Amino acid sequence: MNEAIPQLTSYDEPSLEAAFATLSEEVRTTDATDPEAFRLHWLGRKQGRLKLISEAWLKSAPAEARKPLGIRFNQLKQQIEQALESPVSAPAKSEQQGIDITLPGTVRAPGIPHPLLKTMHEIVSVFHHLGYSTNLGPQVESDFYNFEALNFPPNHPARDTQDTLQIAAQHTRPSRDRLLMRTHTSPVQIRTMIAQAPPIRIVIPGKVHRNDAADATHSPIFHQVEGLCVDTNITFSDLKGTLDHAMKALFGSAVKTRFFPSFFPFTEPSADVQISCIFCGGKGCRKCKHSGWIELLGCGMVDPAVFASVTEERRKLNPSDDAYNPEKITGFAFGMGVERIAMIQHGISDIGHFYSGDVRFLEQFA
Ligand code: DAH
Repeated sequence: MNEAIPQLTSYDEPSLEAAFATLSEEVRTTDATDPEAFRLHWLGRKQGRLKLISEAWLKSAPAEARKPLGIRFNQLKQQIEQALESPVSAPAKSEQQGIDITLPGTVRAPGIPHPLLKTMHEIVSVFHHLGYSTNLGPQVESDFYNFEALNFPPNHPARDTQDTLQIAAQHTRPSRDRLLMRTHTSPVQIRTMIAQAPPIRIVIPGKVHRNDAADATHSPIFHQVEGLCVDTNITFSDLKGTLDHAMKALFGSAVKTRFFPSFFPFTEPSADVQISCIFCGGKGCRKCKHSGWIELLGCGMVDPAVFASVTEERRKLNPSDDAYNPEKITGFAFGMGVERIAMIQHGISDIGHFYSGDVRFLEQFA
């Protein structure tokens, strides 16, 4: 990065004066933020600029010019050493570039959590306060965890309710090992129970995938929070009390809940939970299709067939395992869609807003 050596054609006083003024200015404006680079550039023993210039100029200097040249080179060296000792005395970059430091600075807004993550954390934290912990599982899941162990046998019509994205080239594998994108967070219930004995209280937030066409309320990728509680003497009343509390915590204490009979292969009995419409207070409006109620999540008591699948897996490791004997323990489970809850919380009518990346939408949640 050494620039060319400036030429000195005349050695009279005014020429020397001008030549050294130029050099001095060059020292003053050399970037000194890296002192070692600055030192090498000017004072390097072999290629230092001071050395190269002084050699070039002294070589062809007439005898009487040697002294004034020497004095000036010494002064220049002092200037360089001074700049090294107190780099702050070097002019600030902004001064060199003519930046007006009285102008207002660039404001960088701090980032905010995405509204979906915010709602997901809110849901999870309601359950953390009830003593639940968090578990996560893989998004690429096997048929066994996503369906079979949850009491969806191969070819069972209940599988049709969750249009599945299959991973390619799995047909040579045994059906239970075939990989797919998980269609719900429920497989993590199985993973958790195989790994640990009751009591269990967990929530499972995460991404799920379905081969659904996108519209105002559907997206092929969305989010759920699953819950599982297994212990001795867990009853449907515990399920009702827990979810009623959670809905009040999320939507306000005035909200009422009701439980409707439903069907899921992995719970028996199963229920859909509805909350009183938070837009009209239950009187009936467009949002609740004039019913006064909004359907929000699925739940139920863990089906003994699920405990049986878990026990079968656990016995591969410990043949006498009896931790999930349905005579001794019971449990409840629930699963809710995060997008749906966030849309109701904020009155958002199109699920696509969450994924559009439009800052004008997102910054409203700051
Ligand atoms: N996995 C269900 C779905 O995605 C939701 C669900 C319903 C989860 C009932 C549960 C449950 O744990 O008990 O449609």
